[in-house]
Amino acid sequence: MSKNIIRSIKGTQDILPDQSHRWQALETAIRNTMNRYRYKEIRTPAFEQTELFSRGVGEETDIVSKEMYSWRDKGGENLTLKPELTAPVTRAFIQHNMGGQSPTNKLYYIDALFRRERPQKGRYRQFHQFGVEAFGSEHPEIDAEVIALAMAVFNGIGLSNLSLKLNSIGSPQCRVDYRNALRDFLSPHLNDLSETSLKRFEKNSLRILDTKVPHEIEILKDAPNIRECWTSEDLSHFEEVCSLLDAMGISYELTPHLVRGLDYYTRTTFEITSTAIGAQDSICGGGRYDGLVETLGGKPTPGIGFAAGMERILLAMDNDASTTQHTHIYIVGLGDGVRPRVVQLAEALRQNELAVEFDVLRRSMKAQMREANKAGADYAIIIGDKELEVGQAEVKDLSTGDQNKVALNQLIDHMNSLPF
Ligand code: HAM
Repeated sequence: MSKNIIRSIKGTQDILPDQSHRWQALETAIRNTMNRYRYKEIRTPAFEQTELFSRGVGEETDIVSKEMYSWRDKGGENLTLKPELTAPVTRAFIQHNMGGQSPTNKLYYIDALFRRERPQKGRYRQFHQFGVEAFGSEHPEIDAEVIALAMAVFNGIGLSNLSLKLNSIGSPQCRVDYRNALRDFLSPHLNDLSETSLKRFEKNSLRILDTKVPHEIEILKDAPNIRECWTSEDLSHFEEVCSLLDAMGISYELTPHLVRGLDYYTRTTFEITSTAIGAQDSICGGGRYDGLVETLGGKPTPGIGFAAGMERILLAMDNDASTTQHTHIYIVGLGDGVRPRVVQLAEALRQNELAVEFDVLRRSMKAQMREANKAGADYAIIIGDKELEVGQAEVKDLSTGDQNKVALNQLIDHMNSLPF
């Protein structure tokens, strides 16, 4: 009786060998850029105490109220698979007294996250982000550097058609004042609001600004502008961020409705969108979170960061064949007697940094040559019992078809001298 096959969970994806090289190329580009900006990698556990997110990200946010994978484990602890990384990285920053060791800490990560959202193109239940968190400076220079770093990664991998949306949501008091102003403005329109916006009105009013419903967008055109709630320090901070971005030649769109869906933000918020990937167009989001370290029990320390969705970046990037790995040499072995020589030769060539394959199915010469071509090999080395007897192998250049006899004891040197 045949058994049912077991499938992966909805909203999760296998990264198969025909795609994994694209992930590797993206990860390498990220690590190289992080190194140039002198950000150092931090890795945190896959799960944390649930309270870290309810306290850090905010009880009423979509992430905490609906999207977390949480459970009570056998020891009675409430645990959650991490849905974002700012709170875990901040937890680690506090726990390891990183602020006590250095006045600034510039950290980056590449990691898998979990949110129980409705899956669609560009939105998954397990997905990957790279991002940075920079602790210790409240000054606009670091805001500008963090934004420039995100743009540098995207430019470095050839992503175009991006737009950088920029706003400030001011100090925590500004957020409260603005929420009240927005609620006052929306009160006469409650009958016109969708069910989702009505729920948000009660619990997380600022999120109404994210609506995609056309008539709500129309109503919101006359909504109060968050600038009206900024303090003079908020204004000068924002103006300086803008002038530093101008100095670096980074263009941005002022977007007063950009408030972001997580509660920890203060002052600078930004998002980078791409026109190449459809409805889920946000590839990167971030901002300042000057109160978060304190909220999580640490000494007051300003912070700013961003995270970018790697699946969305890969959707927005052209399929780049140049990053595909290929085989340098395919060894075609014929006959039982040659096997020790084939494996020994493959090992020796691999130790010289060459990518080498040989047939493990004991197939015919024709089938092995077909395989060599399929693998995109530059050269085939052909060794049969006859070649072994005379101490020579055939080396075939698969792009030109040229074939030469090479003495077995000179084969390694010969292969090393060839262009790949
Ligand atoms: P976020 O806006 O929730 O921010 O996520 C950042 C990015 O992660 C999004 O712009 C998107 O590209 C990607 N993303 C989010 N959810 C999904 C999903 N379900 N499937 C695929 N991609 C997704 C944060 O996570 C903050 N921690 C960012 C931050 C860091 N702020 C300061 N520091």
